[in-house]
Amino acid sequence: MTNEQLEQLLSELSLEEKLGQLTQCEASFFIENAGLAATGPESAIGLKPEDLKLMGSVLNCVGAENCIKLQREFMENHPHHIPLIMMDDVIHGYRTQYPIPLALACAFDDELTEECARMASHEAALEGVHVTFAPMVDISRDARWGRCMESCGEDTTLTKRLGAAMVRGFVGDGGENTVGSCVKHFCAYGAPEAGRDYNNVELSERTLRQTYLPGYKAALDAGAHWIMPSFNSIGHLPMTGNSYILKDILRGEWGFKGAAISDYNAFREIQWHGAAETMKDVAEIPRHCGVDMEMMSGTTILHSKELLAEGRITMEEIDTSVRRILQEKNALGLFENPFRFANADAAADYIMSDANKALALRAAEESAVLLKNDGALLPFKKDIKKLALIGPFAAEKGIKGFWSCVGVDEETVSVYEGIKALLPDTEILLDAGCSYDLLNTTPIDVLTANAKKAAAIAKEADAVLLCIGEYQNYSGEGNSRAEIRLPLPQRILAQEVLSENPDAAVLLFGGRPQDISDFEPLTRAILYMWQPGTMGGTAAAHLVFGDAVPCGKLSMTFPRSVGQVPIYYAHQTTGRAIKDPDIPGMPHPFTSRYMDMPVSPLYAFGHGLSYTTFEYGPVTLNTDTLTEDGSITATATVKNTGNVTAKESVQFYVRDLIGSVARPVKELKDFKKITLAPGEEKTVSFTVKEEDLRYWDKDLQYVSDAGAFHAFIGPDSDTQNYAGFVLKK
Ligand code: NOJ
Repeated sequence: MTNEQLEQLLSELSLEEKLGQLTQCEASFFIENAGLAATGPESAIGLKPEDLKLMGSVLNCVGAENCIKLQREFMENHPHHIPLIMMDDVIHGYRTQYPIPLALACAFDDELTEECARMASHEAALEGVHVTFAPMVDISRDARWGRCMESCGEDTTLTKRLGAAMVRGFVGDGGENTVGSCVKHFCAYGAPEAGRDYNNVELSERTLRQTYLPGYKAALDAGAHWIMPSFNSIGHLPMTGNSYILKDILRGEWGFKGAAISDYNAFREIQWHGAAETMKDVAEIPRHCGVDMEMMSGTTILHSKELLAEGRITMEEIDTSVRRILQEKNALGLFENPFRFANADAAADYIMSDANKALALRAAEESAVLLKNDGALLPFKKDIKKLALIGPFAAEKGIKGFWSCVGVDEETVSVYEGIKALLPDTEILLDAGCSYDLLNTTPIDVLTANAKKAAAIAKEADAVLLCIGEYQNYSGEGNSRAEIRLPLPQRILAQEVLSENPDAAVLLFGGRPQDISDFEPLTRAILYMWQPGTMGGTAAAHLVFGDAVPCGKLSMTFPRSVGQVPIYYAHQTTGRAIKDPDIPGMPHPFTSRYMDMPVSPLYAFGHGLSYTTFEYGPVTLNTDTLTEDGSITATATVKNTGNVTAKESVQFYVRDLIGSVARPVKELKDFKKITLAPGEEKTVSFTVKEEDLRYWDKDLQYVSDAGAFHAFIGPDSDTQNYAGFVLKK
């Protein structure tokens, strides 16, 4: 459709049709309504059956046939035959699930991330999805927040890179079997007070701009046409009505031309926040902020007419939003082909194909993080006769992760199945030992007896794998936790099994960094599988028995205790930094310390071991003076000093020693993933320019400071391998 045709269409629409374009409801409203008479589920959001005929969009329409049927019937009944846009949460796969985003981020791999997103978009597109509500690029520094599982973790550079890679994967060139992308949740949703989902966010504008906003911007620049304001308020102002961020920054400074859709029911929640008195007020506020579409509440349809009559909103505001929605439909080609790529036969061939499962497997292998491996306990030898597989995740299929779209547990490979397939002749002694339930109701003596029984079974085996952690539905939306330790039954199990079997390795599952201090000292090896998706059990088997070599690096710091969160590597020093952050604070009076615990985390951002060892050479610079139009190249050699070929994500950090405001102790600027054969050495270089050193200074200007910097190259954010340089202006 040409622009002229689009404008013509807009001019022909009645007000009711326009307001319909600005509203999204669940697809089930239509499907369930099919047989209903007077009042359908639309009444729950205040709408009438005739309103449904004019909707702009639906979410959660599942299956190509359903999408085609719904679209066909809908368009026939629409006065101008305008197609619906169908949106869905394709977060880490459509049906073939790859690891949760927080895990995939540990692969530190733009290409792998893009490939996974492309596979997901292809599956989703064939099933009739037009736009995915992804990527989620909320910086997450608080492990209590259950939705950290959906993010790329704590770091701005990693989030920018991987968020953009996801968008490229989803959107591609807009051609066949792609979907559009809606970036979320704008913004700073990952920093709720007390780690509790949906809670208020308090941030300085500097931190907002420096740390939180760049991820959204990078995803938009990569080709996402949609954005979703977040549920939270920032500084007391609900984001759905935050004109400064949505209008001045997003549309003004960034020049965003795409469409904004509220989160689920978020218009109405402005009232529940206590920031609007009536539903009519609720319908007004986001309209002035350029939030075009209202998801799953009906205030726009119900109140806009009155608001227009009273001059509280303008026809121009309505038209601007409708125009954006029509433009996005047009950009997706929906006017020419309203079904887009929906094709049940092609979907049946492609979805869960061997190639897709192979990709999900590779992603799961590269996402796993070997947290600890004393004395090279892992990998286990394949010729063991008897393996004890203990713990609630030993045979559990609920490991694919929250937000798994139409992925199902039944299609997920459990650890037991993965190992059985790899080592069919090995005897496996299987014992769950306890349930994974968070809230325990079993008496402690029963838990202890069961744990002792499991420990005794383990003693009979040649090798023991303890499969423990967090069930997939204990992280994700709304699933914040105040404690991030193992639930009590698993703590008891770990204590019994590991004290009886000191050579047992732990296979850990979860959707967030966990406090593992209860069992970490008792085991020599911990492999964090996160929530690894459909092929999780196969990946675990390959990793545990050395068919795959771990290479994941933590995308989020592992605290020693929940009392340390929020904790992240790119913190400031403070005026009273503790001298030795690794020992508890008693000998360090009047410093920024804990009396009872070290300040340092258990495992730093970027940490992750391998079955080989890598030796880093010193950092060398091609020059130690950076000019405003020049660049500096920092180089280090990395050598594989072990016996297996392995991948290593080499990380490049910079420290700005003095700024006009306090600066982080280190900031990740770049990373490169290399593969090294035993004995092989590679030279890895990173380039830095003046623009890479800019930050939001004391006057909130985005500038760099002349002066001293350190350039670090190392295996994790703890690295002290650096060379100094000076920026001259
Ligand atoms: C609420 C979630 O916050 C958002 O991420 C999601 O896209 C919508 N629901 C739609 O499912």
